[in-house]
Amino acid sequence: VSSDPFDRLVTGMDTAMVIVTANHGEERSGCLVGFHTQCSIDPKRYAVWISKANHTHGVAVRAEHLALHVLTSADHALAERFGGQTGDEVDKFAGVEWEPGPGGVPLLTDCPNRVVTRRLALVDEPPDCDHVCVIVEPVEVVAASSFAPLRFDDVRDIEPGHDA
Ligand SMILES: Cc1cc2nc3c(=O)[nH]c(=O)nc-3n(C[C@H](O)[C@H](O)[C@H](O)COP(=O)(O)O)c2cc1C
Repeated sequence: VSSDPFDRLVTGMDTAMVIVTANHGEERSGCLVGFHTQCSIDPKRYAVWISKANHTHGVAVRAEHLALHVLTSADHALAERFGGQTGDEVDKFAGVEWEPGPGGVPLLTDCPNRVVTRRLALVDEPPDCDHVCVIVEPVEVVAASSFAPLRFDDVRDIEPGHDA
């Protein structure tokens, strides 16, 4: 347990985890993301924060579409693949089933709960932050009737593939 009260409060909220994927040209990328939330009701808008250090950042800021895969409690191995390795060194998509969605964005077959989105804005303010905010609109949504989310507490053991 962290001695830092900010860290304790934020981790105590036990965020649900998602995998964000993107494609640009010949390049695919994706990473595990805990920083994400709905940010408008009407129209529906969503925000995800991507670390500037991540391989996914270089692809996501060029991509027209991002796919947000909502993980379930059965998805620890997938979380480890996308959160514990970097596309700088490995092809995370080798050995997992996926298909290209709108604009070629990779859709992970094992994650049926997903939101395919179109990128609307990048917010890099203040510029000394280590993550950029990507604001997106949903264009295709698939939702199972009910699911138990994979939460931060379930993936504490995963060492991020990149420092923030
Ligand atoms: C629990 C957990 C939460 C994470 N949350 C985020 C996040 O919100 N945004 C982000 O960009 N990276 C996040 N990461 C880090 C990336 O998933 C990780 O560094 C990944 O290996 C980067 O892969 P890439 O270099 O192929 O993009 C998180 C990692 C873990 C283990």
